[in-house]
Amino acid sequence: MSLYLVTGGAGFIGSHLVEALLKRGDQVRVVDNFSTGKRENVPAGVDVIEGDLADDGVAVRAVVGCDYVLHQAAIPSVPRSVKDPLGTHRANVDGTMQLLVASRDAGVKRLVFAGSSSTYGNSAVLPKREDMRPSPITPYALQKYIGEQYCQLFTSLYGLETVTTRYFNVFGPRQAPDSPYSGVISLFIKALLAGQSPLIHGDGRQTRDFTYVANVVDGVLRAATAEGVSGEVINVATGGRISLLELVRAVQLILGSDKAPTFDPPREGDVKDSQADIFKARKMLGYDPSVPFEDGLRQTVAWFKTLSV
Ligand code: UD1
Repeated sequence: MSLYLVTGGAGFIGSHLVEALLKRGDQVRVVDNFSTGKRENVPAGVDVIEGDLADDGVAVRAVVGCDYVLHQAAIPSVPRSVKDPLGTHRANVDGTMQLLVASRDAGVKRLVFAGSSSTYGNSAVLPKREDMRPSPITPYALQKYIGEQYCQLFTSLYGLETVTTRYFNVFGPRQAPDSPYSGVISLFIKALLAGQSPLIHGDGRQTRDFTYVANVVDGVLRAATAEGVSGEVINVATGGRISLLELVRAVQLILGSDKAPTFDPPREGDVKDSQADIFKARKMLGYDPSVPFEDGLRQTVAWFKTLSV
């Protein structure tokens, strides 16, 4: 039994990691500033430190006695970073730096960092492979890239084991639809459940490798303990892609809705197409995305329905 620290453990992806770790019998601690995370996402009995990782001393307290650190805490929004580069830098870069130093000093066995597909930017080449040159076009993408670069530096310079798992548009239960910065799937489900039109930014032909959260949890837990992966950056996704128009159709089908979408201009800093090459995750982690997009979408819709009854 190991002690895992999940940063952002009250948030969407973090809380699913907490749940999976408890289920298999590991010990868990959460650190969260509850800026977007919710208390009800953390199961009773879990040790929770409320604090902001960018503040001095919080990361030091959080890592005491931990074997593994799963660093999910972030302000995870491209448009929010365009609007607030300073605030998002503090959360996404300063918080990561504090955590890396604290993990190094506490002798943590390995830190897994939540990277982002946005790091690849807008190059036309698909699917995105980890050895492609990063080309961040927004503060969020650059902040996530800086985080993974710092992870690699801490591995080579100080010997702290790190792995970056690059996420591609993760969705699932507990992804809050309560802000304009929320993930698109949560916003589309919320709109269609309420009988409203989903709002598409642009023509809806942009594509994403939408990844169900259970697949991400599997990839991250493998990255924490797999042999021979320290210092690596690894895509964790499905390897497919669908357009927003197809996404709307898929949600409409599940809900039996025919409410048509409305359109407005494309979002600033939006990437056109995104699709992962997951060969490296398969090879180095034994990862296989076992939940297909449609199944994940059905489970997500079912969860949203429980909220609205
Ligand atoms: C980006 C990253 C992803 C990261 C996430 C954090 C890419 C390819 N992906 O996701 O790795 O985890 O940020 O938030 O950079 N949209 C609408 N209507 C809406 C909301 C969004 O049409 O109401 C559109 C957006 O313009 C975009 C797509 O849906 O084209 C997906 O948007 P969103 O869910 O915010 O994620 P990304 O910005 O793609």
